[in-house]
Amino acid sequence: PAPGWAIAADVVVVGSGVAGLTAALRCEAAGLRTVVVTKARLDDGSTRWAQGGIAAALGEGDTPEQHLDDTLVAGAGLCDEEAVRILVTEGPDAVRRLIETGAHFDESAEGGLALTREGGHHRRRIAHAGGDATGAEISRALVEAVRARGMRTIENALVLDLLTDADGRTAGVTLHVMGEGQHDGVGAVHAPAVVLATGGMGQVFSATTNPSVSTGDGVALALRAGAEVSDLEFVQFHPTVLFLGPDAEGQQPLVSEAVRGEGAHLVDADGVRFMRGQHELAELAPRDIVAKGITRRMQERDAEHMYLDARHFGAEMWEHRFPTILAACRAHGIDPVTEPIPVAPAAHYASGGVRTDARGRTTVPGLYACGEVACTGVHGANRLASNSLLEGLVYAERIAADIAAGHADGTLHARVPAPLQQPAHPAHPLLPPESRLTIQRIMTDGAGVLRSADSLTRAADQLLHLHTEAREALHENGKTSEPGVDTWEATNLLCVARVLVAAAARREETRGCHWREDHADRDDTTWRRHIVVRLNPDRS
Ligand code: SIN
Repeated sequence: PAPGWAIAADVVVVGSGVAGLTAALRCEAAGLRTVVVTKARLDDGSTRWAQGGIAAALGEGDTPEQHLDDTLVAGAGLCDEEAVRILVTEGPDAVRRLIETGAHFDESAEGGLALTREGGHHRRRIAHAGGDATGAEISRALVEAVRARGMRTIENALVLDLLTDADGRTAGVTLHVMGEGQHDGVGAVHAPAVVLATGGMGQVFSATTNPSVSTGDGVALALRAGAEVSDLEFVQFHPTVLFLGPDAEGQQPLVSEAVRGEGAHLVDADGVRFMRGQHELAELAPRDIVAKGITRRMQERDAEHMYLDARHFGAEMWEHRFPTILAACRAHGIDPVTEPIPVAPAAHYASGGVRTDARGRTTVPGLYACGEVACTGVHGANRLASNSLLEGLVYAERIAADIAAGHADGTLHARVPAPLQQPAHPAHPLLPPESRLTIQRIMTDGAGVLRSADSLTRAADQLLHLHTEAREALHENGKTSEPGVDTWEATNLLCVARVLVAAAARREETRGCHWREDHADRDDTTWRRHIVVRLNPDRS
C-alpha cells in the first residue's frame, strides 16, 4: 500500500531490544536524526526475557582468547573467527558502556561483578542482574536512556518493506502503525540507513521461549528486499524449558542454563544423571549436546520430558539467585525447592539471519542488521550461551559508527534520490491469521529438534500448500486477508519457515544445532560451508 504519511530521518532503527536501542542511542549520540520504530511497546521483544546474562571476559584470569575458544567450539566449525574475535575483544568495554548507560548488574561479595557459568563456557564469565532477570534490567536501562534523551520513537509500528532508490540503495521503510496518533495507518520513514534489529523467529515453532512478537519480520523483509540470508537451518533449542504438557503452545518459561551453572543436575525419572559420560562438561556441555542428550533420553525412556534437580540449592538460594524462575515454576504448580523441575527442549534462538559483514552491513547498501535478526558469523552452527546480548551490543555500536562515518563523508547522504520509490515487487498475498498455528505445527513436526529428509519434505509440501492457496486466492479471485499485524506475522512466518526448511533439507549432515536422523555425522568435506539464500525481489 502507498504510504499515507512520511517522516524523514538520517537513520531508522527497526526494533527495540538490546541491539536496536544500543544502535539508536549511539546514532543519536553521534548527532544523527534517529527514529526508533517497534512492533509493540519499546520493552517488548526477547531482550527482556533473557535470564542467564551477558557473557564477556570480565573475570580475573579470563581472557578474550579463552572466550573465543569456547565460542568456536560451540559453533561447530562454522563461526567466522574474525567476527568472534571482534565480539570477545570489544565485548568487555561494551558491557562497561552498558553499565555507564544505566544497567545495574549483580555484584559479588568483594564488590566486583558477580559472574556465573553456563553451558560451553570453561570460565565464570556471565554477568547477570536481579539474579535471573538480566534482560529485564538491560531493557529497563536502555528504554529509560532513550526516553531521557527525548528520542523519536514510534510504537505499534509493524515494518512492512524496505524502500530503495533507483540504484537499489536503501531509502527507508514502510510501516503499518496502529493507534499512534499522527502516525496512524500505513506510512513511511525515509532514511538512507535502516537498521534491522527485529529479533528472532522462535514463533515459527509451536513451543518456544520467544515472545509472541518474534515472528521473523526482519528476515522476511530482507528476503523480500533481495538481501542475503544465511544459516537459517541452525535453530537452537534450549535444553531446559519448563514442560507444560505435550500440547503447550506459544511462549514457554525458560529455566536458565545458569541454574545448571550453579550446580543443578539433569536426571531421568529414576534420578540417573544421564549427561555424565556424554561430555566432559556433563550438564554444562554446549547447548546442542545437552538438548540432544535430553531428547535421546526421552526417546529411550518414551518420556515427554526429563527433570532438572536443584533441590539442594535450598529456599534461600532459589529466592535470592533465581527469583524469576522460582516464581514461574510455582505459578505452574512446581516447587523447585522440594521437587525436580520437569523440562524439555524448545526453540530458543536463530543462529542464522540476515548476512552482514563486520560493520553490520547487509548486501543491500544502506541496510544494516544486528542482534538475533543478523547473521554476523559469531554463532556458527550453534550459539554459545549468553553471547547474544553481547553480540547485540558490540555490533550495534559498530553499525552506529559506520552510519556516522557514512554521513560524515557524504556516502550515505549523497545517493538518496527524490522522489523515493517503493520496490517494484507484486502485491503480497497475506495469509489468514489462523495459518500461524498451522505453520507452527508443521515446523515442530517436520523441522524441530530431530529432522530427516522425509520430515523436511513433508513440511516443505505443507508449507507450499499454504503459500499456493494464498497466491491463488489473490491472483485468481483478487482476495487476500485484511492487512494487519496478525496477517503480516503469519505471512512473514511462512516466508522464513519455507527458507529454513529448504536449508535444513539441503544440509545433509548433523552439525551444531542442526540434527539429521538420516545423516548422523558431521561432514566437514562437503558441509563446512554456509547456505546463503537470496530471493529475487521481483518474485518473492
Ligand atoms: C539462559 O539463561 O539459559 C539463556 C541464555 C542464553 O540463551 O544465552
